[in-house]
Amino acid sequence: HMIDKGNYRHFMEKEIYDQPEAISDTLGHYINFSDNQVVAAWRDTVFTNVQSLAISACGTAYLAGLIGKYWFEHYARLPVEIDVASEFRYREIPFSPQVAALFISQSGETADTLACLRYCKEHGLKTGAVVNTPESTIARESDTVFPILAGPEIGVASTKAFTCQLAVLAALAVAAGRARGTLTEKEEQTLVARLAEMPRVIGQVLNSIQPRIELLSRELAKCRAVLYLGRGTSFPLAMEGALKLKEISYIHAQGYAAGELKHGPIALIDENMPVIVIAPHDRFFDKTASNMQEVAARGGRIILITDEKGARALKLDTMQTIVLPNVDEIIAPMIFSLPVQLLAYHTAVFAGTDVDQPRNLAKSVTVE
Ligand code: AGP
Repeated sequence: HMIDKGNYRHFMEKEIYDQPEAISDTLGHYINFSDNQVVAAWRDTVFTNVQSLAISACGTAYLAGLIGKYWFEHYARLPVEIDVASEFRYREIPFSPQVAALFISQSGETADTLACLRYCKEHGLKTGAVVNTPESTIARESDTVFPILAGPEIGVASTKAFTCQLAVLAALAVAAGRARGTLTEKEEQTLVARLAEMPRVIGQVLNSIQPRIELLSRELAKCRAVLYLGRGTSFPLAMEGALKLKEISYIHAQGYAAGELKHGPIALIDENMPVIVIAPHDRFFDKTASNMQEVAARGGRIILITDEKGARALKLDTMQTIVLPNVDEIIAPMIFSLPVQLLAYHTAVFAGTDVDQPRNLAKSVTVE
């Protein structure tokens, strides 16, 4: 590769630490800092007249889309239909002309995502692609390109492309909210100011959590299975944590909506089963805390990833707590991604796997 790892052991590690700069490049493209407004194609066109969005993508890009769905629905009251590309393309979705289709892909070459793009174009939908590789097929074939600008990502496990995809989707959701009149100018400016804090907060978190994560990862590397739980936007993040862990450490992991615990996975809980709970102190915190009680009551080992307010509010013993700074709801998913990425990374290092090129996986999946 032309790009080198610098002082890092792996590309994945370098790419995790690239994030303050990467996110700031992404934001630079979508934000006008002189008036704290979002600048984005679709703001004064597609978003002013669509009735819903249809998102398709694979793997980590799909999980970014799932977080985007919460944002489009919350900030813009815009309904979102989302599915993994391999299902979306065969589902025979009854489209109306007022649907705009959005695709998310780091490589821009993923076969199923490309097939969804072609399928939506055949159905006459407006198409937009959130892509990291500007010369890729998906970028070339979609009506509009929303660049991710994360820089080249070499490690098979996606890290900075994911958080930068989230930054793009957050900016688009705010733009859609303005176009649809669900956000005022003042509210937009406040949200944009929060987004603009990300590079600083990401840098601060990356500089402080590593020692604790390493201690924890040493233990995780000995486990056979790990459960991740979260609610709201932390639910897709729980699935992302599980995906990251299994792809590079080969430890089985599953991400669940915390509220689903009682509907099955609780049967797995015992003293050997680490449960990683992602819970910023948001409007769901108390509900997730009661799920933690249920895990604790069955002897489960809880690893809690929360913020300062959450750590103070919790009245329960956890095996470990990773405490992040309190941040606004709109940037929490990007900030909470950091411990999730580092946990997977260090666990894989302790497990001794080939972190950048895990077995059986390709960086971009160009066959169906
Ligand atoms: C992420 O860590 C994975 N390697 C994988 O799920 C990836 O996100 C997926 O294959 C989609 O790739 P793309 O973003 O290049 O389309």
